Amino acid sequence: MNRKWIVAIATMFSFSALVAGLSVADEGGPLHDLMEKVNVKNGAIKKATRSKVNYAKAQKELPALVEELVKLSKDAKELSKDAVKKAKNVKDAEKQWAELSDAFTKELEKFHVKVSDTKTNAEQAKSAYSPVSQSCTKCHDVFRVEEDGF
Ligand code: HEC
Repeated sequence: MNRKWIVAIATMFSFSALVAGLSVADEGGPLHDLMEKVNVKNGAIKKATRSKVNYAKAQKELPALVEELVKLSKDAKELSKDAVKKAKNVKDAEKQWAELSDAFTKELEKFHVKVSDTKTNAEQAKSAYSPVSQSCTKCHDVFRVEEDGF
């Protein structure tokens, strides 16, 4: 083979390796790590409100669990730079990020009031959580996060 071709092909390979390397690196980052923590708390809350039995067991710990998620939601707001950097074709990304993370915090705070009330039963707690889940989805919609699997 002509030397020129060998060089061209070799360059092509190293370039695609570089691109693959970049997209792997892109999977991480502070926002990704934070969302994994958010997802764990979200899972725990969902499990706690899934049935009467689960709720009876978890009711005492729920307010603290929700408080932890409130903290994470505030941390998310602080990560706007990371979010905006990743957002492609999102209009006013900075502003939208602030609004969507505030809405998330606000829904969590309402949910906190609900589960701190010992009169709230499992069913009421479960339905009170749905605006919180919606606030996750609203943000994922704008920032184009695939939701299947959680
Ligand atoms: C203010 C916006 C916003 C809110 C609110 C939000 N998310 Fe996310 N979420 C994101 C963004 C942006 C990503 C992509 C992060 C990345 O991969 O860097 C993401 C990614 C994720 C991921 C994938 C993790 C990963 O990166 O592999 C999960 C799981 C997730 N979110 C769960 C949730 C749940 C559950 C809630 C609500 C309880 C929630 N998120 C609320 C913006 C948000």
